[in-house]
Amino acid sequence: MSSVQKQLESVTREVFHKLNFDPIFSSLKFSDRPDLSDYQCNGALPIAKQQGLPPQQVAHAIIEALQPLCSQAELFVAGPGFINFKLKDDSVQEALKNISLKPALPLSQNVFLDYGGPNVAKPLHVGHLRSSLIGESLKRLFRYMGHKVTGDIHLGDWGTQMGMLIVALQEQFPSLPYFQKDFEGDYPKESPVTLKDLEDLYPKISTRCKEDKDLADQARRATMELQQGRRGYKALWQFFVDVSVEDLRLQLEKLGVTFDQWFGESRYQDKLSGLLEEVKQKGLSRESEGAVIIDVAREGDKADIPPLLLQKSDGGFLYATTDLATIDERVNHFGAEALIYVVDGRQSLHFEQVFRAARKMGYTLPMELIGFGTMNGADGKPFKTREGGVMRLEELIDLLVAGATQRLEEVGVSKDLTLEEEKEIAFKVGMAALKFADLQHNPMQNYQFDVNKFLSFEGKTGPYLLYVVVRIKAILAKGGTPGFPGIVPVLTKQERELAITLFRFSDLISLAYEKRAPNILCEAAFDLAQSFNRFYQSCPILIEPDEQLKNFRLFLCEKTLQQMLILFDLLGIEPVERM
Ligand code: ARG
Repeated sequence: MSSVQKQLESVTREVFHKLNFDPIFSSLKFSDRPDLSDYQCNGALPIAKQQGLPPQQVAHAIIEALQPLCSQAELFVAGPGFINFKLKDDSVQEALKNISLKPALPLSQNVFLDYGGPNVAKPLHVGHLRSSLIGESLKRLFRYMGHKVTGDIHLGDWGTQMGMLIVALQEQFPSLPYFQKDFEGDYPKESPVTLKDLEDLYPKISTRCKEDKDLADQARRATMELQQGRRGYKALWQFFVDVSVEDLRLQLEKLGVTFDQWFGESRYQDKLSGLLEEVKQKGLSRESEGAVIIDVAREGDKADIPPLLLQKSDGGFLYATTDLATIDERVNHFGAEALIYVVDGRQSLHFEQVFRAARKMGYTLPMELIGFGTMNGADGKPFKTREGGVMRLEELIDLLVAGATQRLEEVGVSKDLTLEEEKEIAFKVGMAALKFADLQHNPMQNYQFDVNKFLSFEGKTGPYLLYVVVRIKAILAKGGTPGFPGIVPVLTKQERELAITLFRFSDLISLAYEKRAPNILCEAAFDLAQSFNRFYQSCPILIEPDEQLKNFRLFLCEKTLQQMLILFDLLGIEPVERM
């Protein structure tokens, strides 16, 4: 089923055809004067210009042909030639009964969504937060549209950080069997390190490697040996991965972020030389100073797109090589029909190179990067802790939950709650604040971290939306959900406005999907909350003496709640029962 706007648009288009007017101008938009009308079509103006006629005359001609086909609205001309559509009150109510919540034609592609992308043994920091939140929301949105989506975390589990950690551990515990080349027995089952150990070791060794060339060389050699399959190193590496992944799962679960595949870069190591051979055989690569590269520049490129580096002169493979092998598996083994990556926008050149190389290799499916900007601190630079380090995701979550707890106490909600309830609500409020703050921006836009602003109960925030939903639920709990009560004679301005907002739902969802923009979902939720509040402030519901009118208003509440909860789910926001 299509939205009210789409229905009106489709008859308008027909009439444009009939009148030999270019149907490209037949689209409708929301009225600029909601006090006068609900929708408007401005197409008479460009057509008048094309035909050399007065716009008012064109508009009247359109209305004359359109009105008989359009019984649900009254049409009239306003201003220089705007065609206005005012829905009849009973049509508004009829349309409310069957609002379309889903797109008319469900989509059904096998989509692979690559997001999250944290690096093993390094703490999960705010840089990966955005990828996780945006990716999770897009996954839900794509599924809502009907696609089959596989979410893959694509862990960074194979870089030089592994060699560094091996070296650091060897310094501390040289006698461990992992470091003895000729050791042939079984290694201990217990990990020699905890996540805490890794988190202490990594920043220190990484700083030292920057200053000490010998140490850096040692780490590089260890990485190489690991990649060549040295048994003790492989065993250690597995422990590093296991302890990190265990914690990652926990942190991401708190955020409501889940993956279908927990694959990592290491998975593709055995495939890289085969891939290299294939590319060479097809004549797609060339040698340059001992390295193997693929030219990806195209005629007409605005910026310089350097060749993709497939293999270094020392034989090592790269990030891009792994990405190509991953594409191969996703397409040829898992049957992917579209690939989407949610990765920091600063990697856009990398992905441009990878996509172009993949095209050369014969992949024709859509491949798309959804790049995003940074979350900045008050200084305008990527957000850091007060000490200047990266803030761990866990700390960030704690910070928001503590803030939410304080807010709940300030507004006096806490006193009616048990400690358990307070904890749960504070957690959900904190997460809603964080997610809504992040997702309400167009992904590419940078934004500023500001806990107080995120947690405000007023304005465009997660907590405000949670509060509106609590209010609607409270009304429905008292008034019941009577279903559609039959047509009431007149609608107030606010009832009408809320209804029109409700009619937009499927169009906005489709738009958010087409633009890959969770911010459009945020906008939809906020607009709906605002319309609801204006309705709530001017139309008595529970105390309305006219039973039918009361039931009609409850029906509006019910519809609002239904849409809000769908939007919450698409944004990964969990409603609370009290606030
Ligand atoms: N681990 C990478 C990073 O932290 C992100 C991985 C993105 N996905 C991909 N297929 N390259 O930058």
